[in-house]
Amino acid sequence: MCGIVGYIGDKKAYPILINGLKRLEYRGYDSAGIALLNGESVLYKRKGKVADLEKHIGEASVAGNIGMGHTRWATHGEPNDENAHPHRSQNGKFMIIHNGIIENYSILKEKLITRGYEFKSETDTEVLANLIEYIYLKGDITAELAVRLALAKVVGAYGLVIMCYDEPDKLIAARKGSPLVIGVGKGEYFIASDATPIVEYTKSVIYLNDNDVAIIKKDELQLKTINNEALTPRIQELDLDIGEIDKMGYDHFMLKEINEQPKAISDTFRGRINSDLTNIHLGGLHAVWPNLENARRIIIIACGTSWHAGLVGEYLFEEFARIPVEVEYSSEFRYRKPIIYKDDVVIAISQSGETADTLAAIRLAKEAGAMVLGICNVVGSSIPRETDGGVYTHAGPEIGVASTKAFTAQVTVLTMMALKLAKKKYQIGDKQYHHLIKELTLIPEKIEKALLSNDHIKTIAELYKNSTNALYLGRGFLFPVALEGALKLKEISYIHAEGYPAAEMKHGPIALIDADMPVIVVATKDSSYEKIVSNIQEVKARNGVVIAVVTEGDVTIKNMANHVIEVPETPEHLAPLMSVIPLQLLSYHIAVMRGCNVDQPRNLAKSVTVE
Ligand code: AGP
Repeated sequence: MCGIVGYIGDKKAYPILINGLKRLEYRGYDSAGIALLNGESVLYKRKGKVADLEKHIGEASVAGNIGMGHTRWATHGEPNDENAHPHRSQNGKFMIIHNGIIENYSILKEKLITRGYEFKSETDTEVLANLIEYIYLKGDITAELAVRLALAKVVGAYGLVIMCYDEPDKLIAARKGSPLVIGVGKGEYFIASDATPIVEYTKSVIYLNDNDVAIIKKDELQLKTINNEALTPRIQELDLDIGEIDKMGYDHFMLKEINEQPKAISDTFRGRINSDLTNIHLGGLHAVWPNLENARRIIIIACGTSWHAGLVGEYLFEEFARIPVEVEYSSEFRYRKPIIYKDDVVIAISQSGETADTLAAIRLAKEAGAMVLGICNVVGSSIPRETDGGVYTHAGPEIGVASTKAFTAQVTVLTMMALKLAKKKYQIGDKQYHHLIKELTLIPEKIEKALLSNDHIKTIAELYKNSTNALYLGRGFLFPVALEGALKLKEISYIHAEGYPAAEMKHGPIALIDADMPVIVVATKDSSYEKIVSNIQEVKARNGVVIAVVTEGDVTIKNMANHVIEVPETPEHLAPLMSVIPLQLLSYHIAVMRGCNVDQPRNLAKSVTVE
């Protein structure tokens, strides 16, 4: 996924573009570039981060009130100066930035080569730039028409901003499959991949839909479809504050977002639990409860951390609502020809709402006639717009690539859904229903307490920061937490880590146990506690090292593990919300001690909008 930003108005474009790219860098950060029109067609681009681009530009000319910028997560062509965006067409008529993949680019490239075009980069984007120019020059037509005609030949996904040297008073934006949002200012417009670079200038935004094309002058915006049908722009107001996209004094966004979890969870259930804690209201599901109540099966589709949240959802729905649940990796589900029944209900979980594999899995399920719901964190993103209903997590923007508050917010939504559905299906009595609702509302203050172990966790991190492998174990509701803890460690510290159901250890992983590999056991008090205690003893008996997350006051495990991290007591059904916190902090501190880029880990991007 890449970051796109554009500006047209009376201000100097350059500072807005560079600042915007810094806000978008979490989306992709292997190279960056900007382009300006100021009588000249100015283009700077560089491998590396936005700071490297800034240094490269130095004191060079950056005049101009119209421009665009791009920060890249490479799909076609390795990260280098030439493959960075923007791309300029061969005769210099067009400059273009792109988020997405042009799937038929090689055919288009071959045709352009026969027409005398040469290519400097390996990217699909340069092919599109030259295709637009070729059509523009051949047909002696407007830039906007050339763009629309070129896009009609494209197979794939794009979020584009285009400038034409001959028409320096406009930006052209187009969207299909990759998000674009337009910020509406006074005598100025902003374009970006999401709202984070826009919110400090304006809260009035227009979300582009697939096949939309926008022609943007500083005081006029024209919206149409790729087929030239006029559209009426729908201006919405952002529910986002600049403070939410700033580190606010924390060293990293990830640490800020770990500490924001009490607020993220309370914001997620606020307004959805009545004041006497006796009922749950999920407005986004109001029309679809009958489908859920009569569902033959629930299929959860997601990737990464969201998939782990889905696993927690499986345990919750099956235990409370007694509905069979399958949890599928979106990428596997979309390609393996799954059996999908019309009375299945599919739940897509995604923080960004833009993950390409999950979007594709949604479309597959809808083609099969299933009801598809979404659990997303980004308002106006693609998944909420393509599903039949759903529930937003109110975690606020999650900038750190490693997902933390989104996970606990997703689990909060799944918990409310499972409890409400169980109540509707008479699978849970009032007493237990009210008790668990109350316990859910106590989670934020309990997490505040769990966060106080930060310094203790840091001392443990110091001891294991040079490990090369780690094993995470959990049972029942805590098995998905073990998987999530392992993912956190590997994606930001680059230590190999894997999560396993604790009982599975004797079927293989126990062979790995030695004094050099920390075994992190999620062992808070629950119905399988005695079993996990035995697993800890099995590890210790083989000279293993155990770091255990335990319920506060647990003496049994304290006397056998090498280290314990205590968390407040919670019902086992809500334990994932609590026990994940120490694992997030442990991975964070180890990564910082290893000098890793915690917010922008190598090779990763915040949302994978390509397949
Ligand atoms: C989690 O820390 C990772 N950043 C990654 O696995 C992420 O959860 C996955 O790419 C899914 O993203 P989504 O929730 O935006 O769909």
